[in-house]
This record gives sequence, C-alpha cells and structure tokens, in this order.
Amino acid sequence: MRISLIVATAPDGAIGKDNKLLWHLPADMKYFRETTSGHCVITGRKNYESIPEKFRPLPNRTNIVLTRNKNCNFPGAISVSSLQEAIKVCQQHNETEAFIIGGAEIYRQAIDAGIVDRIYLTLVDGTFDADAYFQFDTSNWIEKSSLRFDKDDKNPFSMTFFVYEKA
Ligand SMILES: NC(=O)c1ccc[n+]([C@@H]2O[C@H](COP(=O)([O-])OP(=O)(O)OC[C@H]3O[C@@H](n4cnc5c(N)ncnc54)[C@H](OP(=O)(O)O)[C@@H]3O)[C@@H](O)[C@H]2O)c1
Repeated sequence: MRISLIVATAPDGAIGKDNKLLWHLPADMKYFRETTSGHCVITGRKNYESIPEKFRPLPNRTNIVLTRNKNCNFPGAISVSSLQEAIKVCQQHNETEAFIIGGAEIYRQAIDAGIVDRIYLTLVDGTFDADAYFQFDTSNWIEKSSLRFDKDDKNPFSMTFFVYEKA
C-alpha cells in the first residue's frame, strides 16, 4: 500500500489560518476530489471539523479521523487514536493508496515518521497570513510531474500541481 500526502501550500508553506483554508480554489478542490476519490483519507480531528457538516464525511472515500479523545465519534467516519491504527484500517480495507489529507499536525507526524511515499503538492502563487504550515525538504524527494494552472475568473490565484516521490 502506498501512503500519499496531499496538500496545497503557498510558497512559504502556509496552509491555513483559524482552522480554515486560505483560499477558495475550485480547480484545486476538483484535483483533490479526483485524486482521493475511492480511497481512504486520513485526517486530523481539527481538519475534519473544518469541513462544513454537509460535505462530510467526504463522499466516495473512507474517512479516518485521528483523535486522542476516545469519546469523539463522527457519523460516517472511523475514529482512530494513532497514525499506526489509521494505517491498519486502510490495510484492512485492502487499500492500494491511502491519503493523508492534513492538517498541519498530521502532515508533520507523517513526514517525521518517514511513512510518506508520495506527495501531491499544489503550490499556490500568493502571500497569505497563516497560522498553519507544511514544509518539507525537497532534497529528499524527486519531482515526478508538474502541471501549471493559470488563474481565471473562478480561481483567483495561479497554481502548479506537483507530484513528488521519495528519493
Ligand atoms: N492547505 C491544505 O492543503 C490543508 C489541508 C488540510 C488542512 N489544512 C489546514 O490545517 C489547519 C488544521 O491543522 P492543525 O494542525 O491545526 O490540526 P489537525 O492536524 O487537522 O488536527 C490535529 C488534531 O488531530 C488529533 N491528533 C493529532 N495527532 C494525533 C495522533 N498521533 N493520534 C491521535 N490523534 C491525533 C488531535 O485531535 P484531538 O484534539 O481530538 O485529540 C489534534 O488536536 C486548518 O487551518 C486547515 O484548514 C490545510
């Protein structure tokens, strides 16, 4: 089973503020939906709670929520209390590619644990006031592909979709 991480960041690594995303980019939302559809997604409790109730659990995906609170129960999602347990659940679902979908705390733990095989990075051209970041050392990763998207009337920032694999 491949373990992938999917994230959208500004050039300085900014990903969120006040438990919200920093932008509304339908093109990136579509990319996220299409990339993760049919797979297990692993999310921190805060990121999961930041998804509007009507959009969660994320449809057509097995939603796995990390929380240390044993009383936390999210309808339609599976609550787990460690990253290892989350990965076990993915294996039990015969997953081929599991996705770590944030937020900052979960991304950091996954990178530090060395369990991530692939990173889907959307690099958003812009400067944002943030309190949550994702940074990784690109020298440990090989760029496999990149696709430029120019801003348009629905997407206020240009972006590049990168795929990296572990060196
Ligand atoms: N731009 C992007 O691509 C992107 C993607 C996702 C999220 N974000 C942003 O990231 C921010 C949220 O990130 P965050 O770091 O504040 O929160 P988070 O990573 O989403 O969630 C943190 C929570 O996860 C649980 N947790 C963490 N490690 C755990 C472990 N090892 N075992 C069990 N549970 C664990 C804890 O929940 P309990 O407190 O319940 O124990 C912890 O409070 C938001 O601003 C969001 O919009 C951005």
